[in-house]
Amino acid sequence: MRHLLSAADLDLASAQSILDVAEEMQQVQSRPVKKLPALRGRTVVNIFFEDSTRTRTSFEIAGKWLSADTINVSAKGSSVSKGESLRDTMLTLDAMGVDAFVIRHPSSGAAQQVAGWVKAQVINAGDGQHEHPTQALLDAYSMRHHFRSIGSDGFAGKKIAIVGDLLHSRVVRSNVLLQRTLGGEVVLVAPPTLLPTGVETWGCPVTSDFDAAIADADIVMMLRVQRERMAGGFFPTEREYAEGYGLTEARLAAMKPGAAICHPGPMNRGVEISSAAADAANSLVLDQVAGGVAVRMSVLYHLLGSDEGAM
Ligand code: ASP
Ligand code: CP
Repeated sequence: MRHLLSAADLDLASAQSILDVAEEMQQVQSRPVKKLPALRGRTVVNIFFEDSTRTRTSFEIAGKWLSADTINVSAKGSSVSKGESLRDTMLTLDAMGVDAFVIRHPSSGAAQQVAGWVKAQVINAGDGQHEHPTQALLDAYSMRHHFRSIGSDGFAGKKIAIVGDLLHSRVVRSNVLLQRTLGGEVVLVAPPTLLPTGVETWGCPVTSDFDAAIADADIVMMLRVQRERMAGGFFPTEREYAEGYGLTEARLAAMKPGAAICHPGPMNRGVEISSAAADAANSLVLDQVAGGVAVRMSVLYHLLGSDEGAM
């Protein structure tokens, strides 16, 4: 695999291999010396044209723990603010001898475009409302851990309710594609105003009845209300949104025994998720963050590591 631009780039064998190697990578996290030599001599540039806490930091940590040289570039502080185009910026950095770019950009399709311009390998760390493939991988990693912890393996037959602002979410698109490969049954839950055009072609049941969906779900994945992408009013008030589509304390109590909560973060507590749910014993939110480093190590290793890499 040369680039990771979409969750659809992964067949079952490669997705499973990334998840399996991530298990091994996660052991590094608890070692006193967090270093493997696998990517020594490789240079990874994390270039973020949009804000990020989890993705940027975890890719940087992942690269460093694998001994790659990692450099962070953000639009603010670069010559983008002087009007340099995306193409010129990427060609400039590529000419320095970069091996891989991890890129986040507000425009859908930006990562794909960059992959067509540069010699380096490209990992999509979120492009507009389009995709966020490493998020879907880390979600799958955390869900798989959870299923195993309750004595059940595999995604087949598991119901994953993805709830909230589907319209603006790249996380939902990558999860739908990845679960199509892994075998989980995704159910989409949103108010009609926050449904993407063409959602009926995604091959998943769609409902606006969160209470009905929750009774059946093995995973309840809450999505952030993405105010920064909303030009108009998509719902009356936050209180009404929370009543209809928030994971409230009452809905937390209505979850199936053994069911778990996911949220990619950042969370709007009190809007799509109550604090009771965010901090509940069956919330995987911080497991997702921890697993995110291991999954990104595994992705970097799969893309850049040689077969002789010392794991
Ligand atoms: N952090 C995720 C993303 O960048 C989800 C979110 O922002 O709500 O897509
Ligand atoms: N989940 C996620 O991508 O978080 P950041 O936007 O903080 O990177």
